[in-house]
Amino acid sequence: MQQLGVWQAIMIVLAIESSCDETSAAVIQDAENPRQRIVSNVINSQIETHKRYGGVIPEYAARRHMDYIDVVINEALRSANNLTIDDVDVIAATAGPGLIGGLLVGTVTAKTIALMKSKPFMAINHLEGHLLTVRLCCEVEFPYLVLLASGGHFVFAEALGVGDYRVLGETLDDAAGEAFDKVAKMLGLEYPGGPSIEKYAKKGDKNRFKYTMPMQRRDGCDASFSGIKTATKLHIEYISDINEQDRYDIAASFQNAVVNFIAKQTERAYAMTKTSPKNIVLSGGVAANLALREVLAIFATKIGANLFVPPVSLCSDNAAMIGWCAIERIRAGHGFSGLDFKTKPKWGLDEL
Ligand code: KG4
Ligand code: ZN
Repeated sequence: MQQLGVWQAIMIVLAIESSCDETSAAVIQDAENPRQRIVSNVINSQIETHKRYGGVIPEYAARRHMDYIDVVINEALRSANNLTIDDVDVIAATAGPGLIGGLLVGTVTAKTIALMKSKPFMAINHLEGHLLTVRLCCEVEFPYLVLLASGGHFVFAEALGVGDYRVLGETLDDAAGEAFDKVAKMLGLEYPGGPSIEKYAKKGDKNRFKYTMPMQRRDGCDASFSGIKTATKLHIEYISDINEQDRYDIAASFQNAVVNFIAKQTERAYAMTKTSPKNIVLSGGVAANLALREVLAIFATKIGANLFVPPVSLCSDNAAMIGWCAIERIRAGHGFSGLDFKTKPKWGLDEL
């Protein structure tokens, strides 16, 4: 490790992310200045592979990870001023939750490098990576309320410290992004569905189709998107000869229903926090949605809190957040992982 000024010893982490459909490697350093932390962050997206199926096919994803894992690692080192593995202090990889094939590719690669080069290995929880991303790019102190909304996850948590998260609620069925993807497929729009729906929604009438807000007779802030999805399917079936304007209106009405529902559950999640945090964080791929940001910003202002949304490139899956999570854990005194650490396709935040 190099000594840099008054800040502690600079630690360099090589991180790998391969839990879903992005093969990513990053070099992250423990710099005081957030702008100097990401040395490189290389992402090979599999969107083109999965597009024709309207969703991620796990077997194809695993094969693509195998084909590209060494490519992204080499590129991450090369674009980090031609570093070599010898310059790296820690090897980190996402070990769960996620698709088992990809997780195995990432963790076996990381463990092999760690073993051959006698470096410590760190198994990282993908959800914790998303939860801490905001601290990689902004000066956000604990505690904060965080909503992770992606294609695979929908979780409200109160982040009290590194490794200390109170899960307040989660989806009982689909993740929010998954609902966007499925509705886009129903409308014949391109995968991933979120950006397609958002684009269509801009030209549509959000009040044309009515929805009942789910989960309102039930306490807590858990979510369910299957009712909104089914209602959308019925709206589509009801129109005999669907035209482009119908699609715009359905996209707008669906997005409006989802966004209002998430806003409502965020309010409930906030009421469930123990610390009434001054910061609210939105993370995951769905954070790209401007309508969602808008309603959450209004809520944050209403309660005198700040809304933080990391840059979209860091909200969706990437290895930089995994490397940063490793640094946060090391700083907070959590130990390294053994090379016998088993990948966990299911790995909740409350198990950390
Ligand atoms: O975090 P992410 O890149 O990958 C994981 O699922 O982990 O999230 C991808 C999800 C997809 O379901 C995609 O449709 C959704 O995020 N998404 C959006 C938007 N952009 C991406 N959902 C709504 N509005 C968007 N603008
Ligand atoms: Zn993710």
